[in-house]
Amino acid sequence: MITADLKGKKALVTGAASGIGLATAELLARMGAKVAINDLARSERLPKEVERLRSTGVDVIAAPGDVGDAKDAARMVETAAAAMGGLDYLVNNAGTPGTDRPIPPSDLERQDEAFWQKLLSVNLIGPFRCVRAAAPHLKKSRGAIVNTASISAFGRGGSSSVYCMTKAGLVSMTKELARGLAPEVRVNAIAPGLVQGSNWQCRWTEDEVDSDVANIPLQRPGKIEDYAEAIFYLCAGAPYITGVTLMVDGGLSI
Ligand SMILES: NC(=O)c1ccc[n+]([C@@H]2O[C@H](COP(=O)([O-])OP(=O)(O)OC[C@H]3O[C@@H](n4cnc5c(N)ncnc54)[C@H](O)[C@@H]3O)[C@@H](O)[C@H]2O)c1
Repeated sequence: MITADLKGKKALVTGAASGIGLATAELLARMGAKVAINDLARSERLPKEVERLRSTGVDVIAAPGDVGDAKDAARMVETAAAAMGGLDYLVNNAGTPGTDRPIPPSDLERQDEAFWQKLLSVNLIGPFRCVRAAAPHLKKSRGAIVNTASISAFGRGGSSSVYCMTKAGLVSMTKELARGLAPEVRVNAIAPGLVQGSNWQCRWTEDEVDSDVANIPLQRPGKIEDYAEAIFYLCAGAPYITGVTLMVDGGLSI
């Protein structure tokens, strides 16, 4: 486990009442940062997790809001930055598969206009909305952005083709914003493979998971803490890295 002294740093992590986002918020807070934990206002986990983390002595606040809603996303970022007195790190982690079971690429009927709009708005425009609102704060602090993409962005399939395309867009956005916000702000992404320990809405059968694990050189799914550590590194370390999407998949994509 790598460590850093993040006292005085302020972070906002979206989609952080659960899974990779929660593990990231917890890690940044344990290293001394003040962390705003975003999730949907209707999330029952959000107040519970904020309370649980506070009881361990770390400095976290709730930042409820929907990144899939333009006004709400901007309001949420502004409120969080004002409450913390600035922003050093933005982790764009909120995402949705929009389906409980994988949709095969051949099923065009289920990948309709409404499905496209939902996934685009949460997975792709959502991060851009948060960046737009956070950019002045991040430029001032010479901060960093990390986006949670997915190995599904690179052609090996995922919960649906639309999901894969939104994550491919996020990989491209990472490069565009790295140019657009340089030299003050570094912008990177991680591409998780199999995730163990999150509450991801889309479920694969045990057989499907087993056959994927059999193809992972490191022979296990990634824990949420594995992903959090990679995000932490790209936020708090990595001073000469920008525009990169780091594959964090135990070697699955090779
Ligand atoms: N689980 C996987 O298989 C997998 C694989 C690769 C990438 N990812 C990506 O990792 C990220 C985290 O997923 P996870 O596996 O930790 O799942 P998770 O479901 O445990 O966490 C996602 C969180 O995002 C929140 N969220 C959803 N829509 C939101 C919105 N509009 N505004 C704010 N919050 C919202 C959810 O309420 C949830 O708490 C996502 O971006 C996902 O696309 C997941």
